[in-house]
Parts: sequence; C-alpha cells; structure tokens
Amino acid sequence: MPKSTEPEDGSESDTDIFKIRTFYLFWPYIANPIYRSTNFIAPMKRSIRPLISIVMLVVLAATLSCRIAIRRRGVFTVSAEQESTRVLNQPLPIQNFNSTLLKFAATDLGEEKSKLEIEQLLEGNFASQGRYRTFATWRRFNHQDVKARKSNVLPVMLKSPKFYRYWLDFRRNLQDWARKKVFQPDIMMDLVRLVKVPIDSHNGLMSIDKKYKSCAVVGNSGILLDSDHGKLIDGHEVVIRLNNARTENFEKNVGSKTSISFVNSNILHRCAMREGCFCHPYGGNVPMVMYICQPVHFMDYLVCNSAHKAPLFITDPRFDMLCGRIVKYYSVKRFVEETGKPLDEWGSTHDGSMFHYSSGMQAVMLALGICDKVGVFGFGKSTSAKHHYHTNQKAELRLHDYEAEYAFYHDLVKNPQAIPFISDKFKFPAVVIYK
Ligand SMILES: *[C@@H]1O[C@H](CO)[C@@H](O)[C@H](O)[C@H]1NC(C)=O
Repeated sequence: MPKSTEPEDGSESDTDIFKIRTFYLFWPYIANPIYRSTNFIAPMKRSIRPLISIVMLVVLAATLSCRIAIRRRGVFTVSAEQESTRVLNQPLPIQNFNSTLLKFAATDLGEEKSKLEIEQLLEGNFASQGRYRTFATWRRFNHQDVKARKSNVLPVMLKSPKFYRYWLDFRRNLQDWARKKVFQPDIMMDLVRLVKVPIDSHNGLMSIDKKYKSCAVVGNSGILLDSDHGKLIDGHEVVIRLNNARTENFEKNVGSKTSISFVNSNILHRCAMREGCFCHPYGGNVPMVMYICQPVHFMDYLVCNSAHKAPLFITDPRFDMLCGRIVKYYSVKRFVEETGKPLDEWGSTHDGSMFHYSSGMQAVMLALGICDKVGVFGFGKSTSAKHHYHTNQKAELRLHDYEAEYAFYHDLVKNPQAIPFISDKFKFPAVVIYK
C-alpha cells in the first residue's frame, strides 16, 4: 500500500460521484485553466522497493508493446478534418507530400470509440472486463469489498476515503489529458522543457536549456545478441531502455547503464499489481517516461506515482498524437505502394482503430527532441535473430507496423525532410542506426 499523507476523512457518499457528469469534458475551457504544464510531469518521490525476482521481470518485459485493446486518441477540440486541412496549408518546402496520404494519416479511425470510452470512464462506468480488472486492482484501498464484482465494484470502493481521493485525481488527470490531445507539430521543440529539464532536476543537475550530447536508444530486438555493443551503448551520455527489458547477463550486448526507462502503460499496469508498484529493473532512482495506451491506466499512474521514488512522467498527449500520425503515414504509404490497393483497405490489414506505434518508435522520437546525437541499437530483425533479446516471444504484434517504423528510421538517417507532420522549425539531430 502506498504511503500517503492525505487525511483519512473527507469521504463522501459513493453515489454523489456518479452525479458529477462529463460537463467539464465538453466545456473544458470554461471550467478549468488549461495547460498547467506541471500536471503531467510533476514527479512525486517516495520509497524505493527492493529488487524482485528476475522471473517477474521477464514477464514484464515480455509485454513489449501495448497488446491490450488500445482505444485511444482522446477528445479533440478540432476535428481531424479541419486539422488536416490546417496541416496541408502549412508550407512544406523541399518535400512534396501526397496530400491524400497526409489526410488519411491525420484521420483517427478510433476517435469516436476513444471519446466514448473516456466519457464512460469519467462517469464511473467500468462495465467492460478490461477496465473492471484494472479497478479490481485498487480493491486494496478498501478491504471490505473483496466480494465486490463487476459493475458494483467502484461504488463500494468509493467508500474508502483513500480510493475516493485517487478517483478524483484520476478524473482530473484524464480530463486534462483528453483535452490536451490535439495535433501540435511544434511539440518536438518542447521536449527539452517537458522531459529533460525535470529529469535533470531529479538528478540534481542544473536545468540548462540544452540537449544531451548523445543518447543511445536501446530496442529489445534479438539482433543485439549478434554484436557486443555494450560498451558503445554505455558510452553515450544518456541511455534510454524500453519496457523494462533486463540487462543482467546481457551486459556485453546491451550495456548496463540506464538513464531513462521508457515504458508503455501496460507495463506499469502489471507492476501496479505488485506491492509497492515494483517496476524498476534498472534501480529505483531511474526516471520513467510512460505513454498511456489505455486511459484507464491513469489509475495505475496515480497509485504508482505515489509509491515511486524516481519521477514517472507521462508523455504529452500532443507528442503521442504526433508519433501516431507519423507512423500511420509510413504504414499507409507502404501499403499503397506495395499492394496497390485503395487506402480504405489499409485499416483491415492493420487493426484499423487499434493501430499503434511501438514504444521503441516513441522513445526514438523522444531522443530526437532531447539529444544532439542519437544512436539507435536493437531495432530491426533478421531471420536468425530472436524477436526480443531477453524473451522467447515469437510473434510480432499486428497492431504495430514495424516495417513502416523502419522506413521512418531510414528517413531519419538519410532524409529527415521526407518525414511529415513535424514542424519545419525543428532541427533533426544526427541519427546512427547500429546493426
Ligand atoms: C497520392 O496517393 C493516392 C493514394 O495512393 C493516389 O491515389 C494518388 O494518385 C497520389 N497522388 C499523387 C499526386 O501522387
């Protein structure tokens, strides 16, 4: 149970909560000042938990990607249609993008579903099985409700003052997140402020508005076992690792230094089932950056944030959105070029509304924003290599299009001008991909 300094009183009748409707969601600008930038990045510090068994790490790390249903893409204040027009109106020098592809990539097939899900969550409707399971995790806040099941689980839990507090925070965080989820091509220029400055401050460093000299982003591909890049990786100023892949016994191949642990929220969700939200294969002091796969995971975030010593940052939803568009563009482009089929058929071959970039892709994007030089390790595959260096997972997930992401990395190295959606003002760092 996370330590908490909050008062044990202040609980209200459980039914009151359900009367609070989604008013704020639809009139957000009246209800609340927005863009309180600290909201999403405010670190909280608490106790370190001891190391736990390697077996558990393997389980955690096996979840490389968001494999549970991803009904994301939040509540837009501007429709995709209007937005893509705005994108197209921006001057795009040098590169001539195909406007049909741009427009299609900017349209979010899962938008309606995602809006509905967020509405339901804000209303306290946790009917679906997946959400119920998440909320069942928080039963520890109310020990009398062990028998509570299905839809009545939340009302019972709300009788617990501690849970009630989390619930209010959950709604506030989710509302802010959903509201911020708009397309913003300039967000790349904000990553130093949003991520690097607070991490430096956690590490006791002066926050100068400069990028890291060099960063290694270490993917989890089995190709890492083919070469001994360990020393090379550790030689970077900052090493970013993904989804808690362990380094023990692989130091020769993957190095041992970790400066930033990048995860998706499914990883944290699994950690959250453990006492103390244990989630630190790299040590309790390593900051984590996490993107939200499912809005319901804000509950894991809130509870674990109060249990973690190191800061846990949630990626800015505008940054998520930019990553999503870029990968979708590459996926769609590849699809029409290789199959010659019409655009509409893309959805059925890529899980349509579930389609999502991989954690690795967003970690590379993060590195582009906060580093002067980026070395990319352990991305890609070969017929002889395992899917992950540290697990025996065989299959790739269909909701990712790794080939499209490789095409994106290729452009990063050779021709960053060919990458759509990122603001022209952004200066790409030098990128090297190590095989
Ligand atoms: C843009 O892509 C679409 C879809 O593949 C294609 O039908 C169209 O001809 C392309 N337009 C140009 C100008 O190349």
